[in-house]
Amino acid sequence: MPVEESNRGPEVLLAVRRTADAPPLGAQVEAGLRAAVRDGRLRPGDRLPPSRTLARDLGVSRRLVVDAYDQLVAEAWLEARVGAGTFVRRALPAHPDGARAAPPDDPVPAPTGVPATARPDGRPRIDFFPGHPDLAAFPRADWQRATRAALRELPDAALGYADPRGLRELRVALAALLARTRGVVCRPGQIVLCQGVVQALGLLVRATGGPGGPVRVAVEDPYLHEHRDVLHHAGAEVVPVPVDELGVRDEAVAAARPDLALVTPAHQCPTGVVLAAGRRVALARWAERHDALLVEDDYDAEYRYDRAPVAALQALAPRQVVYLGSTSKTLAPGLRLAWMVVPEDRLAAVVQAKRYADGGSPVLEQAAFARLLAAGAYDRHVRAARRRQRGRRDALVAAVARELDGARVDGVAAGLHALVRLPAAVDAAALVAAARARDVGVYPLSAYRADPPAKTAAVVLGYGALGEAAIAQGVRGLAAALRDVR
Ligand SMILES: Cc1ncc(COP(=O)(O)O)c(C=O)c1O
Repeated sequence: MPVEESNRGPEVLLAVRRTADAPPLGAQVEAGLRAAVRDGRLRPGDRLPPSRTLARDLGVSRRLVVDAYDQLVAEAWLEARVGAGTFVRRALPAHPDGARAAPPDDPVPAPTGVPATARPDGRPRIDFFPGHPDLAAFPRADWQRATRAALRELPDAALGYADPRGLRELRVALAALLARTRGVVCRPGQIVLCQGVVQALGLLVRATGGPGGPVRVAVEDPYLHEHRDVLHHAGAEVVPVPVDELGVRDEAVAAARPDLALVTPAHQCPTGVVLAAGRRVALARWAERHDALLVEDDYDAEYRYDRAPVAALQALAPRQVVYLGSTSKTLAPGLRLAWMVVPEDRLAAVVQAKRYADGGSPVLEQAAFARLLAAGAYDRHVRAARRRQRGRRDALVAAVARELDGARVDGVAAGLHALVRLPAAVDAAALVAAARARDVGVYPLSAYRADPPAKTAAVVLGYGALGEAAIAQGVRGLAAALRDVR
């Protein structure tokens, strides 16, 4: 069956049939365009190819395409803009057959087990969601240069199935970066690139599992529900251990008798506490005595403002610590680019888990990131981000002092979020709703607890993605919401 296709202009595939039983060509073009708008392949505002181009591609007369466009303009599917071309109408009216442009995507099905206060639907205008850096500051030009260089320079062999640990040149660059900035002690061979800390957690459970029942993982309480769920989903038994003003309680970790203990020593998530020196040593010695593994999530260590750097726990006990780092807070979570530094005697099992999970992380992003590091562009980007984020941190502290009488801000010496302790405990769900009514997203500390209480005495405010004016306005909204629920 002779079929001719158009592959120019917007991403829409039209075809015409020329068999004896086929409808007239004009009707086919009209029907094809209507179908493309109806099912969302052509979206409101999309520009259509010039009639001459589409006619040539389809092997039909230009008149026929002009007539089809005119018909669809008359039916209000399309609009003609003088001198600019023909476009899909922005506001599509309801059509007799009920057709409209398809919505951009279905909502993501909500995970189970997450308290409702932790995942409000949609995003408010001023969202103190703690998980995002400033995505508008992604170094697009540097990344573009690095990607171009990677495409030019990567040997063909690098595009094949490769070492599941990732590109060696990136592992070499990361080993140097981590030694320089975090005091991490490792060979490049111990580094395994992975798709986010999220993937690392699942791989570690799988690599630790044996015939003796589920892997026991001690997790700080409070901590991220998402990560607890990931561990659980990978088959682990998750044991919450309390955090106080010195960080996670080492004797509670020991009492939980875990195979793995997931900790955030540099900036506890979400309280912002730095793990005290004595507890670091105690944890390291406990892990050595019991051949347990500490999993150090160093998720936002690049953002340190007014305290001396604290080296990674990994440097204290390189044989007992898996160190995790990620580009999610420095570049963008969408890259899904993170790394583990794995002790030598656990390496084979972790690499095997990575191989079976996905065969290795995508190589082009790794090659681009290696070039970003080599060119010094990553260091420059992190330095600029730190300066900007310090300004936002200061704006948050000032706004809380101004607007929230009796509140205290904790955990602001580092990171991209703060813990605001409220003058009195309030109903968490009511506070979230009252803030949402003012288009402000706040995240109660209670939602991070393993067993969330109804009341919360603190909120977690991420400021990394908000400008200083929005921060001030958001804190005003929080203050008003607090007045509503008190
Ligand atoms: C505590 C913690 N760990 C790790 C990460 C990074 O996770 P991923 O690398 O999967 O994006 C985040 C990001 O928000 C985090 O809050």
